[in-house]
Amino acid sequence: MGAVIVGTGSCLPDRVLSNHDLEEIVETNDEWIRSRTGISTRRISSRGEETFRLASVAAERALEMAGIRADELDLIIVATMSSHMSMPSCACFVQKELGASRAFAYDINAACSGFLYGLDLVDKYLCADREKKILLIGAETLSSRTNWKDRNTCILFGDGAGAVVMEYRDTSRGVVASNLFSDGNLWNLLYMHSAPSCNPDLTQPDNPGTHILMEGREVFKYAVKAMQSAIVELLAREKLDIASIDLMIPHQANIRILNKLVSRLGIAQEKVFINVQKYGNTSAASIPIALDEANREGRLKPDDVLLVCSFGGGFTWGATLLRW
Ligand code: COA
Repeated sequence: MGAVIVGTGSCLPDRVLSNHDLEEIVETNDEWIRSRTGISTRRISSRGEETFRLASVAAERALEMAGIRADELDLIIVATMSSHMSMPSCACFVQKELGASRAFAYDINAACSGFLYGLDLVDKYLCADREKKILLIGAETLSSRTNWKDRNTCILFGDGAGAVVMEYRDTSRGVVASNLFSDGNLWNLLYMHSAPSCNPDLTQPDNPGTHILMEGREVFKYAVKAMQSAIVELLAREKLDIASIDLMIPHQANIRILNKLVSRLGIAQEKVFINVQKYGNTSAASIPIALDEANREGRLKPDDVLLVCSFGGGFTWGATLLRW
């Protein structure tokens, strides 16, 4: 233990897209969306609110809380699958925006599990080098990766960013343990194309853009089962029971997935942080946004045991325990 979160921040675009607004775009209705997903509104980036800009504002807020200057950072990692460029990385743009001149910077992509994978990575960096100051961000603008004619998917996603600043502290606080998984065999149940990665005819390829495709029912079934088993295994390994969790912060995919998971785990509903109704599924950003809201609302007390879990395209999934 020792990789401690010393500051949190988040940034949501101002523009709110309600279910009623969606009724104007596709054949759907507020009642259907709320009953199937729990989502009422989501945030949508306006022009100029690229992924790195949301990420940078979230980062500034986290740095301010941590009392750390950007030029003291050693490393910036951004979990995203919706950077405005494939190269340079979103993290390099964040480094430039912040003026984090000493930091090296790169992105990771584990879809909705990106932030959880990032926590594991930062934990390992900090255990190897206790002097490092690290910024970990989850940031997405999935409105740019959504097919706005597909009512199966366009109702689900939203834009936003969340950030944490992490340092090593010689205490029992910090990342306790992670239990992470991937199964690439199931890639075709939830995916997003990109520009082709081979061009044997040496032609100038068209890049018509890209969007998320999903088999919703299958994703639903796997998500509940996979997160449940990752959590049960992790708790058993750490000799903890579900009653010892003070707050669970799950990836905010969908209220029905969360309700099923919560009832199977037997955790009290009031110990589960939920904001999916406001922001929809913001993929890699959902956990750090929720963490920041929980923190600023005073829901996190020193030494609280937090359970964080996620599921996303890949498939990727897992669970992490933190002592606050
Ligand atoms: N509004 C109104 N009707 C809709 C609709 C919408 N936005 N989307 C689909 N429908 C219709 C379907 O066309 C279908 O109609 P039919 O019976 O006439 O064919 C009916 O509703 C049921 O569709 P189905 O896809 O079976 O619904 P569902 O109960 O499985 O709910 C999801 C759909 C997407 C909400 C659900 O499968 C889900 O939550 N999956 C997980 C998605 C997720 O969280 N992904 C990200 C993981 S990180």
